[in-house]
Order: sequence, then C-alpha cells, then structure tokens
Amino acid sequence: AKVRVKVPASTANLGPGFDALGMALNLYAYIDMAIADKTTIQLIGDQMNGIPTDKSNLIYTVAQMVFDQAGVSHPELYIAMYSDIPLTRGLGSSASAIVGALAGANALIGNKLTQDELFQIASRLEKHPDNVGASLFGGIVVAFWDGLRAEAIRLEPDQNLEVLVAIPDFQLSTEKARSVMPKEVAMKDAVFNLSHSSLLVAALATGNLGMIRHAMKDALHQPYRAPLIPGMATILAQADQHGALGVALSGAGPTMLALVDARSDRKEELEAFLKETLRREGVSAQTLWLKPS
Ligand code: HSE
Repeated sequence: AKVRVKVPASTANLGPGFDALGMALNLYAYIDMAIADKTTIQLIGDQMNGIPTDKSNLIYTVAQMVFDQAGVSHPELYIAMYSDIPLTRGLGSSASAIVGALAGANALIGNKLTQDELFQIASRLEKHPDNVGASLFGGIVVAFWDGLRAEAIRLEPDQNLEVLVAIPDFQLSTEKARSVMPKEVAMKDAVFNLSHSSLLVAALATGNLGMIRHAMKDALHQPYRAPLIPGMATILAQADQHGALGVALSGAGPTMLALVDARSDRKEELEAFLKETLRREGVSAQTLWLKPS
C-alpha cells in the first residue's frame, strides 16, 4: 500500500522568537512512500536538481530512524517527493522533508510511533524545533528543545491573519545565516527578546492583532543577518508604515515575511513596498499571499 503525506511550509522565529516560534503556511510538499523490492527515490521538479536519490537521501535516512525506533526491520522503499516550497529560502523546506519522511514512514508501519515521538526525532535532527514543530502540528507553535527533550504548544491562528512573503531569487543557507551571529549576547538584548517574544505569543493567542507591531521586534538575530539581505533593514524599519501588522525575516532568510490583517485595504501598497525596496537594492523577489495552515 502506498501512503501520501502533505506537509506545510513553515516560517520560524516570527521576529523575536528565535528558535522558539513557528507558523505553518499553506504551501505544501507531498511525499509518497511504499514498501518496494528495491529502493528508488524520485524527486519531481527543477529545484530538486543536485539532491541525492540514493540511500543518503534525507527522506530515506529519516524514514530509517522511524523503523529503528519502532523496532521494525528496514524495508526497501519507493519514495517520491514533489514540493511547492522553495528550497533554502527560509520557508522550512528541509523541515518539511523531515516531517514528511517521519509521518510517511510511520503511516507505512501502522502509526506505531506517537506524534510526540516523531517530534522528538525531528527536534534532535534540527536542534531547534520551530520549523519542524509547525510542519508537524500546524498552526502557530511555541516550542523548545533543551538538548534532551522538545516541548511544544500549538496555538490556533486568528482567522484574520494573512501572510505576505517576499522570496528573493537567491539562496541563503541556515548554516551561513547562523554563522554571522555572536556566541554571546548582552543581558539587555536577551531581556528585549524575552519581553517582545512573550508579548507576541500573548497577542497571537488572544487575537490582539494591533499589538503585533509593538511585539514583532528582535535584537538577537535580525540585526546580524540584515547585511546578508540587501533591503532587509529598510523593510524591517518601514513595513508598518505601509500597512503591515508586523514584519520579520522568515526563519534564517532570505525571505521577508509580513503579517497582515485580512481586512486591510493596503495590501497592494505593502506588496509594492516590499518588492520595490528589494529591487532598489538589486534583489528581484517573488511575492506570495499565504495563510496560516
Ligand atoms: N530558527 C532557525 C534560525 C530557523 O533562525 O536559524 C532556520 O532553520
């Protein structure tokens, strides 16, 4: 029997919630899996060029972790993946592959592992559970991984929350975007993020959309990453003057993300502002309107 799983993209951090907040978005990856005589891996679409299709493939290796933990012998697998999630842009494409592999392999063996067990494996792999948590549980996820265990709570997104992303036409690896961050931060910056991230979670949990613009500010990672994305500093400073509820770097970037009230009459203005600001810095970007998923 063949199983098919559909996994949402995700945006991590939401500004101040570095490695702690994630939100699933309605852009999807699809993974088919079946037990086969001989392992074959099909990656459908141009953007998959260069990704291995032998047993070193991420989906294949993550599936083995499920079989190991469930104590079942390793079957040969047929795997096919198609994804609408752009790769290496800060929209959780690798987390979607991990979560799809976990959910697919688990479905193949009759869901022997719980969602929590899948979440623990995914968090161990990623070392931060923000993208995988959102892709696995959906909605808005508040999570941590302390090196031993991951914990998460899912929040239902407000029905008026919309998401505008501007996806630059260049890739930025998470590794590079993490390498520019300092090893230690000042107490005042830690307190700044603690208070803003807490307020953001409270605003999202209570539907206080007007509070988002005060809460969605960050001193831990965005200031260090801004030089990697021409136009980012201007977008962070000015998007709220063009109708955004709040604005942030999506995950490790380079995608920029704005939260928008679905009832706003300034959506076109905001979209033009994001595109034009990036274009002026020589970056061409695709904009997409998304919803939490
Ligand atoms: N929280 C992570 C980061 C997400 O910002 O580096 C990207 O994997």
